[in-house]
Amino acid sequence: MRSLEAEASPLLGDIESVLLEEARIRQRVQELGHQISHEYKDLDPLFVGILKGAVLFLSDLLRAVSIPSTVDFMAISSYGAGTKSSGVVRILKDLDHPIADRHVIIVEDIVDTGLTLRYLLDNLQSRKPASLRVCVLLDKSEQRQLPVHLDYVGFSIPNRFVVGYGLDYAEHYRNLPFIGILSPEAVQRGSR
Ligand code: XMP
Ligand code: MG
Repeated sequence: MRSLEAEASPLLGDIESVLLEEARIRQRVQELGHQISHEYKDLDPLFVGILKGAVLFLSDLLRAVSIPSTVDFMAISSYGAGTKSSGVVRILKDLDHPIADRHVIIVEDIVDTGLTLRYLLDNLQSRKPASLRVCVLLDKSEQRQLPVHLDYVGFSIPNRFVVGYGLDYAEHYRNLPFIGILSPEAVQRGSR
């Protein structure tokens, strides 16, 4: 059987540089979990994870939350297989349950133009939650087209296409434990 390192190396070769190390992400996610636990004490928040990019972030965040809470998921399409926002948002999977009178926290991997999040906020707000907030791992604000308020932010990052810790390029790289900048060669090559 090949070693894990050898298994991972084809992915690592596509990474230009590491932007956020695993330990740094872990530390920040812990802080966010503690802050949310404090601010939502007795409110039984509902975490709405946005598939698929937020899955790793959400699973670590949940373990850092120490209060009663529940989880649901939505899947939406935004970028397709490319690296540019299309502005077209479509619901691929809706929530399993109504959110009326619930304290909802949207958990997203990254906010770039803001188009996806604006759509999500408007859509979920129309379902009359008791409150609606946003927890995002990465804020890439240089290309913001719509103003969106982010309640909890892991890291602000420069305008580069990043992968890892749930974030993909053409569905790959989600399993990297850190956030890295994809090399231009890998972008040009397209899917692996
Ligand atoms: P918008 O532009 O609508 O984008 O704010 C949000 C969605 O776009 C994806 N996105 C990225 N995905 N690396 C990725 O893997 C990136 O650098 C990146 N920038 C935006 C992401 O799916 C997010 O939900
Ligand atoms: Mg994506």
